[in-house]
Amino acid sequence: MATEPVPVGQKTGTGSDTYLSRAVVDARLATPEEVQACIAKQQKLNAAGTPMQLAEVLVRAGIVTASQLKRLSNPADDSLSQSLQQIPGFQIMQKVGAGAMASVYKAKQLSLDRIVAIKILPKRLSEDPEFVKRFIAEGRAAAKLNHNNIVQAIDVGEFAGYHYFVMEFVDGKTVYDELAKNRVYQEQAALDVIIQIAKALQHSHERGFIHRDVKPKNIMITKDGTAKLADMGLARQADDAEAAEAEKGRAFGTPYYISPEQVRGVTDVDFRADIYSLGATLYHMVTGKVPFEGPTPAAIMQKHLKEPLVPPDHLNPKLSTGLAEVVERMMAKDRNRRYASTSDLLTDLERVARGEAPLQAREGVDDKILQNLASGSEAEAFEPNSHATAQKMPSAGASSVNAGLIAAVISEGVLILILLLVLILK
Ligand SMILES: Nc1ncnc2c1ncn2[C@@H]1O[C@H](COP(=O)(O)OP(=O)(O)OP(=O)(O)O)[C@@H](O)[C@H]1O
Ligand SMILES: [Mg+2]
Repeated sequence: MATEPVPVGQKTGTGSDTYLSRAVVDARLATPEEVQACIAKQQKLNAAGTPMQLAEVLVRAGIVTASQLKRLSNPADDSLSQSLQQIPGFQIMQKVGAGAMASVYKAKQLSLDRIVAIKILPKRLSEDPEFVKRFIAEGRAAAKLNHNNIVQAIDVGEFAGYHYFVMEFVDGKTVYDELAKNRVYQEQAALDVIIQIAKALQHSHERGFIHRDVKPKNIMITKDGTAKLADMGLARQADDAEAAEAEKGRAFGTPYYISPEQVRGVTDVDFRADIYSLGATLYHMVTGKVPFEGPTPAAIMQKHLKEPLVPPDHLNPKLSTGLAEVVERMMAKDRNRRYASTSDLLTDLERVARGEAPLQAREGVDDKILQNLASGSEAEAFEPNSHATAQKMPSAGASSVNAGLIAAVISEGVLILILLLVLILK
C-alpha cells in the first residue's frame, strides 16, 4: 500500500483495486469469479512487465464499460475531495472504501505523525441535529474503550458541513472480502475470528456498549491474523429496520445479520442483539450461505422473525455438533433463549474450539425440555427444524416408547380382568 500521500480521487495501488473489485461486485456489474479472473490476468501482466490497472483489465475483458466505471466513482467525491484537504490536522492520502452511508479514507494525523482512517458521513446525516448529537456523544464514549480486537475510535469532528469519525487504520481485509470470493471457512478458522470478536463484544458489553451492526463488513483482519470489530461507537440511524430498508439493492447491504428484535424496532435493544448478529456472521462463514435469503430487505427481515433456521450442519456436514448448537443458541429468535451473557458465549466458543462439548447450548436445550414438560407442550417449544430438535428428538421417540409401554400395561390389565371374569363365571 502507498505510504506517500496521493491526491484523493487518483486511485492507485492495491487499496484502490480492492475498492474497485468490491464496488463492481456490489453494483452487480460483475460476479466475484469474474473479478478474480481479471485480478489473475492483471497479475500475469504485471509478471510479464506490462502492468495494467484493474479498471482497464475489467473494461478490456468486456465485463464493465468505461462509463459504468465512471459512474461507480461517486461524483459527489469530486467536490468532497477538495474539502477533505481542509480537515485541520489531517492529510488525506487515499480512499480505502465506501459503504452504504459513508466513505473511508486513509490519512495522516499530523500532530502524532501516525496513519489513521477517517470516515466521512454524508451531508444529509449532518443535517439531522438529533443524529449529530448522538454521533458526537457515542463517538466520544467509544474513544474511551480500548481493546486489541476493537478498531480504536479516536475522534469525531465536523468540517464544511460534513461530520467525520477518526479511527485506527487497519491494514487488512474484512471478512466480507473473503465471503465475496465465495470462501467457506473451516470451523477452526471461523472460531478463531469469532472468538476474538466475542472478546471485543464482552469488553464493550461490560461497559454498556451495544454495537448493533455486527456483520462481516465490520470485521477486519490484519495481516498477522488479528480480528478487529469496526464501527464501534458509530451512531446508527434511529430505526434499524428503516436503515436496512435504505440499503435496499446492495448485494451484501441487505439485512442478513439483523436481530429479530431490531426488525421489530424494540427500543431496548441489548447485548443479545449483537450475539444474534455474531451468530448470523458465524453461520455465513462456516456454511457459505446467509441464514435467510429473500428478494427484498423486507422479505429477509420477515424470515428473521418467523422462518426456522436451517441448522448449519445440515448445510455443511463437516461441522461439529457443538458448533451447530452454539450457533443455534446465538440465533434463537426469542432473545431470552440466547446466551444470558457474552462471557457465557465465549466459554462455549472456546470449549468448541478445544473440541469439547458446549455447556450452555446444551443447558439451553434442557431448559426448553423442562419448560415444555411443565407446560405439557413438548413439541411446540422446540423451534422446528432446529439442531436442538434433532439432538433431542430421541425424547419424541421416548414418548412413543412410553406410549407403547402404557398400551402394553393396559392390554395386560385387560387380559388379567378377562381371566378373572372367566374364573368367576366358572
Ligand atoms: N478503520 C479502518 N481502517 C481501514 N479500512 C477501513 C476502516 N474502516 C473501514 N474500512 C474500509 O472501508 C470500507 C467501508 O466501511 P464502512 O464502514 O463505511 O462500510 P461497510 O461497513 O463496509 O458497509 P455498510 O455501509 O454497508 O455498513 C470497509 O469495508 C473497509 O474496507
Ligand atoms: Mg463498517
